[in-house]
Amino acid sequence: MCGIVGGVTNKDITSLLLEGLNRLEYRGYDSSGLIVLSKNNTFNRARSVGKVQNLEDNLKARDHKIEGNIGIAHTRWATHGEPSISNAHPHISKNSVSLVHNGIIENYIDLKNNQLKKGYSFSSDTDTEVIAHAIDFAMKSCSTLIASVQLAIKSFTGSYGLGIISSKYPDQIVATRKGSPLVIGVGKNANYIASDQMALLSVTKEFIFLEEGDIAEIKIDKITIYDSEGNLVNRKIITSQLKEGQVDLGNYDHFMQKEIFEQPQAVRDTLESRITNDSVVISAFGYKAEKIFSEIKQVQIIACGTSYNAGIVAKYWLEDIAKITCNVEVASEYRYRRPILLNGTLFITLSQSGETADTVEALKTAKKINSDISTLCITNSAESSLTRLSDLTFLTHAGPEIGVASTKAFTTQLVALALLACSIGKLKKSINKKQEKGIVDGLKRLPGLINEALLQETQIKKLSTRFKNKNSALFLGRGTMHAIAMEGALKLKEISYIHAEAYPAGELKHGPIALIDENMPVIAIAPNDELLGKLKSNLHEVKSRGSQMIVFEDENSKVESMDAMEVIPITSNLGRITAPIIFTIPLQLLSYHVALIKKTDVDKPRNLAKSVTVE
Ligand code: AGP
Repeated sequence: MCGIVGGVTNKDITSLLLEGLNRLEYRGYDSSGLIVLSKNNTFNRARSVGKVQNLEDNLKARDHKIEGNIGIAHTRWATHGEPSISNAHPHISKNSVSLVHNGIIENYIDLKNNQLKKGYSFSSDTDTEVIAHAIDFAMKSCSTLIASVQLAIKSFTGSYGLGIISSKYPDQIVATRKGSPLVIGVGKNANYIASDQMALLSVTKEFIFLEEGDIAEIKIDKITIYDSEGNLVNRKIITSQLKEGQVDLGNYDHFMQKEIFEQPQAVRDTLESRITNDSVVISAFGYKAEKIFSEIKQVQIIACGTSYNAGIVAKYWLEDIAKITCNVEVASEYRYRRPILLNGTLFITLSQSGETADTVEALKTAKKINSDISTLCITNSAESSLTRLSDLTFLTHAGPEIGVASTKAFTTQLVALALLACSIGKLKKSINKKQEKGIVDGLKRLPGLINEALLQETQIKKLSTRFKNKNSALFLGRGTMHAIAMEGALKLKEISYIHAEAYPAGELKHGPIALIDENMPVIAIAPNDELLGKLKSNLHEVKSRGSQMIVFEDENSKVESMDAMEVIPITSNLGRITAPIIFTIPLQLLSYHVALIKKTDVDKPRNLAKSVTVE
């Protein structure tokens, strides 16, 4: 969702704020803004609608430079109030308090009505402005900024990551978080805040990850942190393993393109130390994993979007390989049901960011329903809410994923889930040593197989022209390929704005076949598995209704090409683990090239944000 960056230094902070905003733009790009306390302790603010570039242009066009040693900045993904200058952050109350906010204040209407009675006026439609006024009001009865914030936040229901400055306390930023991520960057003659460590990599590698409810007073040479109970606490400083270059485009045109091509390395990194010559390393899931996995009786997977699609693939694997019941559900539904959670459940959350609000809340709900369950999160983010809340963590080592459309996070999640199915299967003795070795061998082949699949780019690029004037597309697959078809459809929707649906190929005749005519391209995935014969019959049914088809096949599938049907062999001899991962690649490339033809903003598609940290 929204991105936050801020700092207190002995130099001008403005360029760092802009650099941070550029790195955070993937989190939201409806508007952006920054505010700096100038030498005479007055606020100097700039805000623009749209991309950070517009804010940069706005700053360049000014007669007076915005300069100062302390400031905060924000990229917005609109929740309350349209994208407009007045709704852009930072917000100000009475020239005394200014802040940036990530999250949602659910009771803002009640707070606003109260504040109107107290004489406060509002210049935006956001839920954020009430926070600024509440802090300003609290300052009347408190002797420090941090005490004012501590008092004000007591009245909020909802989630927040906040960076706050005050003209009355010009030497500090106060930062606090509940339900939204916030880190402190520890610098030399400087300290910083950000919603994501990536914003600060050019100035520091040392980070303090605030815990739920923490509040911090950040001065140039001192950081003081209190927990949600008001106790003074010491939080560890962690050295980030992220490299600055990892968040740059390099020779690529788009982050999504870069991330698609990084997949061989991302998979290699995710497998490193997680497999030996012929077996899986169960402790890769945590030192308690062996005990927990041996005792579990069923699995519940919770996730959103692309991560949910990975969960569907895992259901097939867990039931097939580990012989354990597995349910998969989207987090936004699960958290509001009254689900039954039996003892012996392994509750797995899947999330690239580890911060998706629905997934985090679903996990909290599950722990409330049955505190005896064991929890595992599979995430790409080491210091995230999910890792803190889970008994076990498996980190996918995909590296930072900036493109809003998830690519390498998905394939590395699948790698993690394959390792999981194999680990549980091994402990439950549903697979023998030979079968385990077979899975491990398949995993080892993945980087090479992904490289082979990437070689099909030229052909896929040619085919993408067929989608220039199309408004809909249908993706078909059977078994795990249905989940891969779902992922292909999601990618196409997200970045090319073409309506796309995925269906299990056998379900076509129960309704969706009525949609098929020459204007409905159909994309099918044809691995060489036990369902191939049935899939081929489904392809005939589609073909005879006049559709233009694209079939991605295993070379050994030998799908017979017909008129207006393009059959593209991706590679050969794929197995039950390798096939879903490999067939993801052509679908990613297809959506990428269609988006280029449609001239959309590939890395920042409209209305979306990278990590959905609000409901
Ligand atoms: C994928 O391309 C999406 N942009 C989106 O569906 C994403 O997968 C979803 O929001 C879940 O995010 P997470 O994995 O960070 O929890």
